[in-house]
Formats: sequence, structure tokens, C-alpha cells
Amino acid sequence: MNITYYGHSCFGVEINGKHLLFDPFITPNELAKNIDATKVKADYILITHGHEDHIADAIAIAKRTKATVVCNYEIYVWLSKQAVENIHPMNIGGKKLFDFGSVKCVNAVHSSSLPDGTYGGNPMGFVIESNDKNFYYAGDTALTRDMKLIGDYRKVDFAFFPIGDNFTMGVDNAIIATSFIKCNDIIGMHYDTFGFIKIDKPEAINKFNRQGKKLTLLEIGETINK
Ligand code: NI
Ligand code: MN
Repeated sequence: MNITYYGHSCFGVEINGKHLLFDPFITPNELAKNIDATKVKADYILITHGHEDHIADAIAIAKRTKATVVCNYEIYVWLSKQAVENIHPMNIGGKKLFDFGSVKCVNAVHSSSLPDGTYGGNPMGFVIESNDKNFYYAGDTALTRDMKLIGDYRKVDFAFFPIGDNFTMGVDNAIIATSFIKCNDIIGMHYDTFGFIKIDKPEAINKFNRQGKKLTLLEIGETINK
């Protein structure tokens, strides 16, 4: 399983030869100016909620790649009106088997509206299961006891957590969340992009280490294998 970081909360994950792209926000991101969004691969685009910093490049990449967009019903309606062809609507609690593995939509404690102000439904996280590895992509969320359900019903090998604080949980709450999901291998996201969410990266990694946990912060454009 290859994981490529495109900045903010946008990751490409290659599973069984299929390319999943999470929360595409590349062209408006100053920190990701070396990423060419027109070259990013996608067979599936998974969108957690409607905020600009999670959906900015979704329409262009969906139209170019013909990827299937996986999102909630309200975002499905909004994307349909903008001529995105392949969209698979889901909602919290739902699970669906795709050709790379399965997607289960889980609760995220946040808000959601689309860039033009349209109501965006409820924000979600995704639990991905495959015959390679299982992971949890939390999206934008506060720490919530609902995360315990993930730890109770699935073995999660690693997770993507927002750690920038202010709009989502920060490092200290993310460490608590690792206990809730029973997984200590975390990839950080949703930090440094804007002034509100600048973090001390070495200190964040040290805080995880002091608890015997691992926080990986990728360079934008970097690919790792899991
Ligand atoms: Ni958001
Ligand atoms: Mn966000």
C-alpha cells in the first residue's frame, strides 16, 4: 500500500493497484505548489465533507480521471449538478464493497457546507478495509467517544488524524484518540496550511513518542509504503 501526501488533508493511497484520493485540496494550497493537480491519479475520490479545503480540486480531478467520487448524499447532489458523472453516495453507518476493498462511513464531529454555501450534510470519516491493510481516515473531527466503536469492531493498522487544533482535534486529543481506536501508528494531517493551524512538528512527534506511539508527518510530495 503506497501513500502519497499532497498537502493539508489530501492523500493518495494505492491499494491493490487502485488509486484512492482523499479530500483533494491542492491548487489553492501554497504549500503544495510543487504538486501538479493535473497529474494526480485517481480511480476513487473520497470526500469527508464539503469545506473548500477538502473539495477544491474534486470536480476537476473527477472529470479528468472519471474516478468514482465517494461522498455523502448532499455532496452527491451538489456534484451531480456540476456534471460529475461517477458518484457513489453514502452516509454515516453505511459500508460498501468496492474493487479495492470496503469503505465504511463513520461519524466525524465537525460541520459541513459547500464552497457556494450549499448545505453539505454531515461530515464523515472513512474506515477502509482491504486484503492488504485496514486504515481509518478521520477527516476533520474533534475527539469523540464514537471512535471507540472503530477500535471495538475493526483492527485498524494505521490512521490519518487531523492534528492542527483550532478547527479539529489537536495533538493531545489525537493521542487520546489512538487509545480509542486501539492503533498507535498515526499519519498527521490538517496542520500548517493556514496560520490558525500551525504546529510545532518536532514537539508533536515527541509527544507521541513519549506515549509509546508513532506520528508520521510526510513531506508534501513524499510517498511511503505501508
Ligand atoms: Ni472542515
Ligand atoms: Mn478542514
